[in-house]
Amino acid sequence: MKALFPGSFDPVTLGHLDILERAARLCDTLTVAVLGNPSKQPLFTAVERAAFLTESLRHLPNVRVDIFSGLLADYALRENIDVIIRGVRSERDYQVEEQRALVNRGLTGGVDTLLMVSDTKYRHISSSAVREILSANGSERFFTIFSEMVPAVVAEKLKEK
Ligand code: PNS
Repeated sequence: MKALFPGSFDPVTLGHLDILERAARLCDTLTVAVLGNPSKQPLFTAVERAAFLTESLRHLPNVRVDIFSGLLADYALRENIDVIIRGVRSERDYQVEEQRALVNRGLTGGVDTLLMVSDTKYRHISSSAVREILSANGSERFFTIFSEMVPAVVAEKLKEK
């Protein structure tokens, strides 16, 4: 089974990595697809976001990282994807993902989305929280918080920013 996990990953968090590791065990190959052109100006470029993922996932031999733009459904069809995987932390996530799953199944003519429940350890973590903390121009204390939310390679870059 060829699976696809799409996202903005701006930046990748420990919550993403937990789901990606669990997802990689369920499929033959897992493509992690980074959205190259999100609507808002991203903190990191697509190339940087993909590089953080590649670095953080290199222990998983069946995972590859790619960058996509345009419709996810088009990318999934082009790559012959069998299933899309997304993580859900909350009911709010579920509502968004339910709608996306229906739209993408329609657009692809049948590719389903498998929703994986986030581990309780990571429920409070989100890329947007990381970006907000950064924009508050944090103290050393904030940088300790980053190390609990994102992989070390990202925490280092956030410190530079
Ligand atoms: O990490 P995110 O920001 O929650 O990921 C959102 C993503 C990239 C999965 C979503 O925005 C997406 O699929 N964008 C591509 C455009 C598209 O296909 N839109 C229609 C699906 S509803």
